[in-house]
Amino acid sequence: MLSDMAGVFISFEGIEGSGKSTQVALLAEALRRQGGAVVVTREPGGTALGQVLRRLLLEPAGAPLAPKAELLLMLADRAQHVQEVIAPALQKGSIVISDRFVDSTTAYQGYGRGIALELLAQLNHFTSGGYLPALTLLLDLPAAEGLRRARQRRGEAAGLDPFERESLEFHERVRRGFLEVARANPMRIYIIDATRPREEIHQEIVTIVRSKGLEGSSSTAS
Ligand SMILES: Nc1ncnc2c1ncn2[C@@H]1O[C@H](COP(=O)(O)OP(=O)(O)OP(=O)(O)O)[C@@H](O)[C@H]1O
Ligand SMILES: [Mg+2]
Repeated sequence: MLSDMAGVFISFEGIEGSGKSTQVALLAEALRRQGGAVVVTREPGGTALGQVLRRLLLEPAGAPLAPKAELLLMLADRAQHVQEVIAPALQKGSIVISDRFVDSTTAYQGYGRGIALELLAQLNHFTSGGYLPALTLLLDLPAAEGLRRARQRRGEAAGLDPFERESLEFHERVRRGFLEVARANPMRIYIIDATRPREEIHQEIVTIVRSKGLEGSSSTAS
């Protein structure tokens, strides 16, 4: 079914403040410099529907979302995202870089919220339509450091989103979830020590992308 997939799919994962968006931008810039057609996208929020869902998820108006409601909104976001953005871009031969994908569902809704992992595996497969990244970069750091960065970025005055307001314990569970998923998928997921300076992290990521031959077909570098 996916044998006609011409492009390259890369995802970034990790807890709040681990540096995903920073490293997505640096990698996209590096690949574009080499002439690659790069599509940068994210979950939730990679489509017009996704923007609405992202607001519902991160700025809920009333009571906190029930975990099952949160899960189903995330999955609706993904179903639309794959059909509208990811699949067409890959079929055109682009390099697609997604800031979060299926592993965030496992880590947050599974390890964080306690929803059964087998159910999430089925739902992840259902919503992704079988599109799985060739490479996933997991930016790993202690939850306390990630939250410190995220809160600092946001500024003291601004409010925190529902995930940022969660306990340190919640974020440590999510971190552990990511690490367990990585250990179960060592060919796809690379664990990156995200406590280091951003340029050092970027260089490691470029080396990994190159070693996997994922720089895109238009690259003429020898
Ligand atoms: N290697 C690094 N060392 C120190 N600070 C960093 C590093 N990388 C990013 N930062 C800073 O930490 C903050 C969070 O980074 P970033 O927004 O890239 O994380 P994120 O994983 O996308 O977070 P979120 O999940 O909340 O979107 C930003 O202020 C960013 O400038
Ligand atoms: Mg981000």
